Amino acid sequence: MKLRNRVILITGGSRGLGKSMALGCAAEGGEVIITGRSSVQPEWVYQYEQVSYYQQDVGCLESTKKVLERVFNQYAQIDVLVNNAGINRDHLFKDMSLDDWNEVINTNLTGPFICSKAVLPYFIDQGYGKIINISSAAATRVNIGQANYCTAKAGVEMLTKVLAIELPRIGNITVNCIQPGVFEEGMGEELMSREKVWDKYKPRFASGRPGYGNELASSLVFLASDESNYINGHVLEVNGGLMWV
Ligand SMILES: NC(=O)c1ccc[n+]([C@@H]2O[C@H](COP(=O)([O-])OP(=O)(O)OC[C@H]3O[C@@H](n4cnc5c(N)ncnc54)[C@H](O)[C@@H]3O)[C@@H](O)[C@H]2O)c1
Repeated sequence: MKLRNRVILITGGSRGLGKSMALGCAAEGGEVIITGRSSVQPEWVYQYEQVSYYQQDVGCLESTKKVLERVFNQYAQIDVLVNNAGINRDHLFKDMSLDDWNEVINTNLTGPFICSKAVLPYFIDQGYGKIINISSAAATRVNIGQANYCTAKAGVEMLTKVLAIELPRIGNITVNCIQPGVFEEGMGEELMSREKVWDKYKPRFASGRPGYGNELASSLVFLASDESNYINGHVLEVNGGLMWV
C-alpha cells in the first residue's frame, strides 16, 4: 500500500491511460480524483469507492481553481498532481489550422502550466507535493503530422525541468515526468487501429508490442510514492525500448 493516506489528482482520467493510472493508485491505497470535461461521471467510477470524478477544463484557470478547492474541502490535503489530460489534432503542417495548433497547445502545454500554478499554494501550505507530468515519445522524436503535439509535449518536458529547479526552493516539492511510448489504451489504441501506421511503427519497438496501461500505472505509483522522494526533474521513458527515429 504505497499510497495509503495520499490524495492524488489525475487530470483527464475518465478513460485511457488516466483511468489505468487511477486504478493503479487506488489499488495502492490512494484516494484518487480524476477529472474530465464532461459533466457526467464515467460509469466505471461508481465501482470504486476510492475514485471520485470532478468536471474540469485544464485549459481554464477558474475551472481548475474550483476543482482544487473542492478536493481540498473534501480531503483537506492534496499530495500529487498528475498532468495527464491531452488531445491530438493531427494534420500535415500545410493543412494544420490555427485552431488545431491552439487547441493542442492549450490543453497539452498550457493545461499543465495552469494546473501546476493552481496547486502550488496548497503544496506550499502543506510543505509537500509532487507534480508528475505525462509527456509522450513524441516530445523527443519527430512524428510527421504532429507539429502541434510534438511541440506541446517537448514543452511539457522542459516545464518539468524548470519547475524541478524552482519549486524545491519554496517547499518540499518535486516535479517529474513520465514519457509513454505507445499503449493499448487511449490514443495508442487509435494509432494501432490504423494498420498501415502501426506496421510502420512496430519495428521501432524493441518489445515488439505496445504497453499495457498497468505497466504505465506502476511507474506512476513509484513516482507518486515516498520511494521516489529524491528523484526530481527526471523524465522517465516507459516504452519497452523505443528506437530514436
Ligand atoms: N495512449 C498512448 O499510447 C499515449 C502515448 C503517449 C502519450 N500519451 C499521453 O497520455 C495522456 C493520456 O492520453 P490517453 O491516451 O489516455 O488519451 P485519451 O484520449 O483516452 O484520454 C485523454 C483524457 O483527457 C481528457 N481531456 C481532454 N481535454 C481535456 C481538458 N481540456 N480538460 C480536462 N480533461 C481533458 C479526456 O476527457 C480524457 O479523459 C495524454 O497526455 C497523451 O498525450 C498517451
